[in-house]
Amino acid sequence: MASRSIDVPRAVRWHDDALRIIDQTLLPSEYKEIDLVEVDDVIEAIQSLRVRGAPAIGIAGAIGLVASLRQYVEGTGLAFRARLAESAERIRSARPTAANLAWAVDRVTAVADEKADADNAEAWDAMRREATAILEEDREMCRRIGEHGLTLLRDGSTVLTHCNAGALATGGIGTALAPIYLAAQQGLKVRVLSGETRPLLQGSRLTAWELSRAGVDVLVLTDNAAAAAMSRFDLDLVIVGADRIAANGDVANKIGTYGLAIAARHHVIPFYVAAPSSTFDFSLAGGDDIPIEERGGDEVRGAFGRPTAPDSVPVFGAAFDVTPAELVTGFITERGILMPGEFEVLRGM
Ligand code: MRU
Repeated sequence: MASRSIDVPRAVRWHDDALRIIDQTLLPSEYKEIDLVEVDDVIEAIQSLRVRGAPAIGIAGAIGLVASLRQYVEGTGLAFRARLAESAERIRSARPTAANLAWAVDRVTAVADEKADADNAEAWDAMRREATAILEEDREMCRRIGEHGLTLLRDGSTVLTHCNAGALATGGIGTALAPIYLAAQQGLKVRVLSGETRPLLQGSRLTAWELSRAGVDVLVLTDNAAAAAMSRFDLDLVIVGADRIAANGDVANKIGTYGLAIAARHHVIPFYVAAPSSTFDFSLAGGDDIPIEERGGDEVRGAFGRPTAPDSVPVFGAAFDVTPAELVTGFITERGILMPGEFEVLRGM
């Protein structure tokens, strides 16, 4: 079958010594890249979802931390180290659910700790190399996730996904969308049903945008249409991403994922979670221990400038839910498609 090239956006990267991101709050109506060098701007970008998706915020946190420290390299060692400690702590806690954010920031600070006796410039160079390695490794993990996930697809497959676990959420071709991109590259026709993902519409604004620009057939669903779509379309599988996976395989992902997993079980549709090892948190026994981000009620009452609920009503603002491991058919990782008892190969990656 003919192979074709696919064009995916680059969500997060270096630009000179600045963090460059695509401002995802503007998509799909406007494509704009912004460069950040101040720690407050990096935190604002992560918290307001200008950059989002677990692997992408990890990379943005790592590059953003290093970029923000560049201006302090000329100062004293004490001031540089104090700024590093303070900024690292602020960035790593900017969003609580994605394991990748603290993981990536900790990797960069560990390198600085190893360079405790070095001057600022040498420590900064080492941190810059580490942030670059995190980005490059993520790109490679996405490709491998794609290769393993591709074994689940065939010409004509229909896949349902939720939120955005594509190129916009990673340093590469995505996690849940990686197998779809590789299938498209090989000329296989794969159809994607993308749940719109209230309240901020990552599924309809971002997944539909990046898939359609790559020439992949995508159909947007309202979230409340998912169960009906499962009964009506000939769905082969569901693939979603993850923000944090506990040691027992319980999965935190965008709110609505749990409901999809229950509906998929009812309709006997395989339900896969695609994630790199950096999303696994072996320090947590189960999903009850995963911190779940609560977002402001205004995102539900009117995120896009028009009221969708009365000002005064309280809303349930959990940004993520936890899907029990028993509802997951398999975990598509860079080390293969695994079940919870097989996670050992991911430790220490
Ligand atoms: O709030 P978001 O948009 O950062 O949530 C993103 C998700 O839930 C993704 O599915 C998850 O981070 C995996 S991204 C590869």
